[in-house]
Amino acid sequence: MRFIGNKENLVKNMYSILRSKNIYGEIFCDFFAGTANVGKFFKGLNYKIYSSDILYFSYCLQYAYIKNNTIPRFDKLLDYLNIKNNYLFSDSNLELILEYLNNIDSFEGFIYNNYTIGGTENKEYKRMYFSDENGKKIDAIRIEIEKWKNYSLINDNEYFILIASLIESVSFFSNVSGVYAAFQKKWDKRALKPFILKPINLIFNEKENEVFFGNSINIIKNIKTDILYLDPPYNERQYAPNYHILETIARYDNPIIKGISGMRDYRNQKSSFCNKKTALIDLEFIINNADYKYCILSYNNEGIMEKENIISIMSKVGKVDLIEFDYLKFKSNSNNNKKFIKEQLYILSI
Ligand SMILES: C[S@@+](CC[C@H](N)C(=O)[O-])C[C@H]1O[C@@H](n2cnc3c(N)ncnc32)[C@H](O)[C@@H]1O
Repeated sequence: MRFIGNKENLVKNMYSILRSKNIYGEIFCDFFAGTANVGKFFKGLNYKIYSSDILYFSYCLQYAYIKNNTIPRFDKLLDYLNIKNNYLFSDSNLELILEYLNNIDSFEGFIYNNYTIGGTENKEYKRMYFSDENGKKIDAIRIEIEKWKNYSLINDNEYFILIASLIESVSFFSNVSGVYAAFQKKWDKRALKPFILKPINLIFNEKENEVFFGNSINIIKNIKTDILYLDPPYNERQYAPNYHILETIARYDNPIIKGISGMRDYRNQKSSFCNKKTALIDLEFIINNADYKYCILSYNNEGIMEKENIISIMSKVGKVDLIEFDYLKFKSNSNNNKKFIKEQLYILSI
């Protein structure tokens, strides 16, 4: 999915760097998980994963990708819906359920009423985050999933797999240039296509992986890990306002919203890593209070914490290596618009 700082394209490189330095282990902790892509990669290598984020929609992704270790069968639900259960290939049962959801009647709910032209035409702020039809589809699907959960027709794994499929799919139909702090004033082609829910690709390992929703700084003390991976925000831009609609779809809690972007309150989801002073204080707290063999920090040369300060904090507790490599920041066809930043990997060995 489109997410600032998504490490999907970097995680393999990061892994080969760790291997070249003989860094291995059995437990991996990803406490700024975002899309959960880093945890997914290490889960695939059979590490036991601890994962956490301050955003609830990230927790939904983590639950589906990291905690879940079973193929969802949806037995009870298929029975209730009178859909023939595919006993031989139960992984395709998810597809049967998504097909059902893709065909349910649209509904004018919170997303339609607040984030589409049709739903906001008589309101103070007119918003065009989704086409009218897609807004209604997202509402109908989200409400149906919650109903199934309340009727105990699906278990927690099945519930979060459906929510994660919805969150991942919504990104492909949103009229935004990347983040949800603003909608585009003209329709992007992607937003005009009819909404289709697609299944997520599940991964399995043989471990009891654990996922958390909350401020990682409060949880970190209870974790013992081999590799502690930190990928905090790099600058002042908070994540919660930039992804507020995904948060609302995941929670579906009818929040009070404000302004032209229809922002929900995010005061208790502000990250201390978006402020130069508090970022260093909390980095030091984590480095000193967590129980790990290696701590790996992803950062870049434009981040608000300075290299010297990071190294100074880390070198009080162990040996620090800094690896830097070029990474293309803005993708563009024109060479003039290409901008490389230095992606950094701080490796602290205790
Ligand atoms: C750079 S992104 C991580 C990207 C992630 N590695 C990926 O591949 O998608 C930073 C993440 O840290 C989360 N975050 C910021 N402060 C946090 C905190 N104190 N506790 C937990 N998560 C936090 C943000 O919500 C965001 O998802």
